[in-house]
Amino acid sequence: MNKNIKYFFLLFTTFSFLILSNPHTVSVIGTGYVGLVTGTCIADIHEDNSLKVYCLDIDTNKIEALQKGIIPIYEPGLSEIVQKNQARNMLFFSNAIAEKVAESDIIFIAVGTPTAADGSVDLSYFYSALEQTVKNIKCNPTTLVLKSTLPIGTVQHILGFIKKHADPSLTVHIVSNPEFLREGTAINDTLNPDRIVIGSNTPDAVRAIQDLYQPLIRKNIPVLYTDLASAETIKYASNNFLAVKLSFINEIANLCDKTGANIQLVAKGIGMDKRIGQSFLSPGPGFGGSCLPKDTLGLLSTAQALGVPLLTVQAAVKANEYQQLMPYRKLKEFIPSNELAGKTIALLGLSFKANTDDIRYSAALPIIRKLQAKGAHVHAFDPQAMQHMKNLFQEITYCETSYEAIKNADAILILTEWDEFKHLEYEKIKKRGKNIVIIDSRNIVDSCTLSKLGFLHAGIGIPHTE
Ligand code: UGA
Repeated sequence: MNKNIKYFFLLFTTFSFLILSNPHTVSVIGTGYVGLVTGTCIADIHEDNSLKVYCLDIDTNKIEALQKGIIPIYEPGLSEIVQKNQARNMLFFSNAIAEKVAESDIIFIAVGTPTAADGSVDLSYFYSALEQTVKNIKCNPTTLVLKSTLPIGTVQHILGFIKKHADPSLTVHIVSNPEFLREGTAINDTLNPDRIVIGSNTPDAVRAIQDLYQPLIRKNIPVLYTDLASAETIKYASNNFLAVKLSFINEIANLCDKTGANIQLVAKGIGMDKRIGQSFLSPGPGFGGSCLPKDTLGLLSTAQALGVPLLTVQAAVKANEYQQLMPYRKLKEFIPSNELAGKTIALLGLSFKANTDDIRYSAALPIIRKLQAKGAHVHAFDPQAMQHMKNLFQEITYCETSYEAIKNADAILILTEWDEFKHLEYEKIKKRGKNIVIIDSRNIVDSCTLSKLGFLHAGIGIPHTE
């Protein structure tokens, strides 16, 4: 074969492989953190026009905004990657759920599964999405991918539901494909995950999902193939393990406060043991967010129904309730509770962690309630989360900048580890002359510097230096 023809043939086969290996139309139901990031990243990792991703939601306002490239949440990098994939004609937003489901051969359900009033998992959004999906499936076969975090055992009910409600002439496969993305680093976590878990009971479903994740698999991202129940359990066990690890390190930090040890050195020392590892060993004002608090309660509820004691998880939840008020307790060491009335307390950080606008289960919530109950004036600043907090607490003062919040404050509580709080001009703040208390619940400001400047201050598990 002539060299040019050979080259053309090679190009042609490569190109047809790319087209044929990804002939999928994908729908993702739910445009929250998980659905929006998952749908966008799936579009992003594929070659131009090799597949289509529809992100679907019943919320028309949200969809209209997304169609214009406006992202309803703060997640670093998300806006750019959404706009890029809209421009490539790979990513679409719609509320025509029935129509798009009918066109799709792979359908993700990624709606929220919040905690119900009794601590169990509220599956109402999930079942409503499932019903709408199942009755509109038209492709044969279709693979239904469960991304929502569902209580262990739910897959069995779903299999029964599909048998009952789907068109019997169609084959519907089920895959449990839990997500492990963190808010604030969601894009990177999705494009470079530690692992992909694919739980299924049919090889056809596995092949469809392999196709979808092929660009990641080619990058040697490890894939673990499991049965359905194991995949469901991996998701809960992972988040619960992280919760236990965090409550453990928080309690050890509290112990350091009494012994004079330094938690940062202690965490480093224990984390150097490969069996323990360095990550998730930073103490703070407890764990918040939508997932760890929700999934610990969810697992406890499942275990209770099955009559299985989960004492470690129970303890982690209890320790966390205690920990979330630790900054407030530390404040009272400097300003007794009967003197808080009329004092101005600056809260720096309202979101449950840095780089997100999410305030769900944030330590700021119980702390604001406590301060209000004592009659303190709360002046708050957060780079992203103020609007959400305004919807919950109208009566506190929201400030435009950290410095505005600190102005006239008797005490500063640093609750979130936003970068800008690390680099405030503490020297200038001190020069104002007032005896300001600083409670650094994330240990982000050097305690020696604060001591040298003459602040009354405390971190979590950090010895006081003179
Ligand atoms: C968590 C898990 O880390 C993800 O793997 C999982 O996919 C996600 O839940 C989910 O189920 O959707 P996320 O809630 O976004 O992710 O946040 P994390 O980074 O896990 O932080 C949880 C809480 O622990 C935050 O309040 C954070 O400030 C706190 N934390 C974390 C610490 O106090 N210290 C640490 O060292 C790490």
